[in-house]
Amino acid sequence: MNADHPATACSPLGTVAGGDRLVPLLDGRHGRYVNLDSAASTPALCAVRDGVVAFLEWYSSVHRGAGFKSQLATKAYDDARAIVAGFFGANLQDRTVIFGKNTTEALNKLSYRLPLRADEVILSSVLEHHSNMLPWRLHGRVELVDCRADGALDLDALAARLRQRGPRVRLVAVTGASNVTGCISPIASLARLAHEAGAELLVDGAQLAPHRAIDMRALDDPERIDYLAISGHKLYAPFGTGALIAPRALLSRGVPEYVGGGQVEMVTLDDVLWSAPPDRDEAGSPNVVGAVAFALALKELARLGMENVAAHEIFLTQYALKRLAAVPGIRLLGDCDPARAAGRTGVISFLLAGKPSFMVAAILSAEAGIGVRAGCFCAHPYLLRLLGVSAAEQDLVLQQILNNDRSHVPGAVRASFGIYSTCDDVDALADALTMIAEDRYQGVYDLDLPSGTYTPRGFAPDFAGYFSLS
Ligand code: ALA
Repeated sequence: MNADHPATACSPLGTVAGGDRLVPLLDGRHGRYVNLDSAASTPALCAVRDGVVAFLEWYSSVHRGAGFKSQLATKAYDDARAIVAGFFGANLQDRTVIFGKNTTEALNKLSYRLPLRADEVILSSVLEHHSNMLPWRLHGRVELVDCRADGALDLDALAARLRQRGPRVRLVAVTGASNVTGCISPIASLARLAHEAGAELLVDGAQLAPHRAIDMRALDDPERIDYLAISGHKLYAPFGTGALIAPRALLSRGVPEYVGGGQVEMVTLDDVLWSAPPDRDEAGSPNVVGAVAFALALKELARLGMENVAAHEIFLTQYALKRLAAVPGIRLLGDCDPARAAGRTGVISFLLAGKPSFMVAAILSAEAGIGVRAGCFCAHPYLLRLLGVSAAEQDLVLQQILNNDRSHVPGAVRASFGIYSTCDDVDALADALTMIAEDRYQGVYDLDLPSGTYTPRGFAPDFAGYFSLS
């Protein structure tokens, strides 16, 4: 442990299942698993794991069974909805929480359920994850605002486009924070701009909710968020439940994209009377365990205090930006000034000169036990923009992919922090990257052309020795 760190940032803020596991390394030793991939998915908080185990004793069908366990499970499911709403400042009198698998499902649902006229525009940004881009392309006319040179959303460009398009903009659909550069969108300003123009605001909260408090505010507040999409698996509850929070009025109309059991009042041979929200939009038996886990996670985050979560991550991000800047040949994407760490989440993407990103990620795993993600992070347009990949180069890569060669797909390495991350994790990353940059790594890494990934030659960990279904 580095003596320069304040003790607080060297201790995890919350404890997660498996946080102390050792993993096999290329040299035959075992090392502590350094999980720097929370932007992709977070482990379960111990409180969530324990709460789920307790709930499983009482699990049963919801909203249809007459037995005691069904009544108890139904109450837990309904309570979970109220806890999710409360955590994000949504009043269930005029808003509803629809549980689904994840943010992707929530955004797809909204894209299906939001009535759009042919001339209406979805105004979004180049920063978006594909989940907040591709659904809108299927259902409406999408216009993207560019990012600034530092990778942040260009608010002036967005305001100008709103003025230009006027009332034709139906929805401003932006990420709360980038899953690539961590930059945080100015939600209050976006809300004001959108509402002044007569549009509504959707925030893809997948990457913001784990790092900062989000308050949707009242439905008549000019700084309100109209629609919020979130994922439990990015909030320390990887049990398959996320949510869309939306105005009740919108989801009281129309036909859901999935139809079946649990969402109707009455079905005759030629008619259907749909239920009120939220049931109307939750077809089939819901993931009750996932919803309970999600609520347990939010309760634990509330207990820890989102202001403490933010402070912990801002400190770590500052520390990481300083340490990583000293790695030879590193190029950090986005605004990498430690003094502005409060304006971003603990998500840091970078490239190492002369070292393919997938190879860097493979070495980090095999030789330092560090888990990161490499690639384009499901935000291809943003990555291509940040890396300055020309249209001609993009076409070439497309052709190569069609020829089953992904070795030239542009990408970066991403390290991301959670409440379990510490300065020791940052030190481990910075030391390992310096080792790679200075060509001091031990293994030989073979490229697999069809996937574009690298594997350490002669290293085949026995996964069954750690966990197996057989
Ligand atoms: N959207 C997740 C990520 O950015 C999976 O890694």
